Amino acid sequence: MRIIEPVTPGDYEKYYDLRWAILRAPWNQPRGSERDSLDADSTHLLMLDDRGRAVAVGRLHFNSIREARIRYMAVAIGHQRRGCGSRLLLALEQKAASLGAACIVLDARETALGFYRKRGYEIDGPGHTLYNCISHVRMRKTL
Ligand SMILES: CC(C)(COP(=O)(O)OP(=O)(O)OC[C@H]1O[C@@H](n2cnc3c(N)ncnc32)[C@H](O)[C@@H]1OP(=O)(O)O)[C@@H](O)C(=O)NCCC(=O)NCCS
Repeated sequence: MRIIEPVTPGDYEKYYDLRWAILRAPWNQPRGSERDSLDADSTHLLMLDDRGRAVAVGRLHFNSIREARIRYMAVAIGHQRRGCGSRLLLALEQKAASLGAACIVLDARETALGFYRKRGYEIDGPGHTLYNCISHVRMRKTL
């Protein structure tokens, strides 16, 4: 497994495909719904297996000079619970620190709360609700 920043159109296709497949397709959301206007100003990380297939993705952007935000963490079905998400999250945190972040915030799906708690994130209040049904919790970690 290796983690890269997508560069080529092919890299980006794999990246957004996985984001859509894990975070949007189960709720019958169309292609394109996995993107937003901040993608152009964000750092994206893509984990690939030995055959170049996408295994995990995640995005980092900055709310302010010192506060980074992670969004769109997704691990491919079949690779979940094998440490890939943790590796990608660590790489995003290292990237955030190298760019000057003092803390990271994120909105965790309630089903992923335990994952982020184990990685040192603490509950910081309510987050947004997606499609009127997916509740999120705002979490924060000081780097
Ligand atoms: C949540 C997610 C990113 C975690 O990545 P992962 O590769 O499955 O997780 P890892 O194997 O690195 O870590 C799993 C650890 O977190 C713990 N954990 C607790 N709740 C968990 C959950 N809902 N999902 C995965 N792990 C969870 C596990 O017990 C495990 O602990 P351990 O390292 O001590 O054994 C991934 O499962 C995923 O993409 N889920 C579906 C989409 C999603 O919910 N994304 C997050 C949106 S906020």
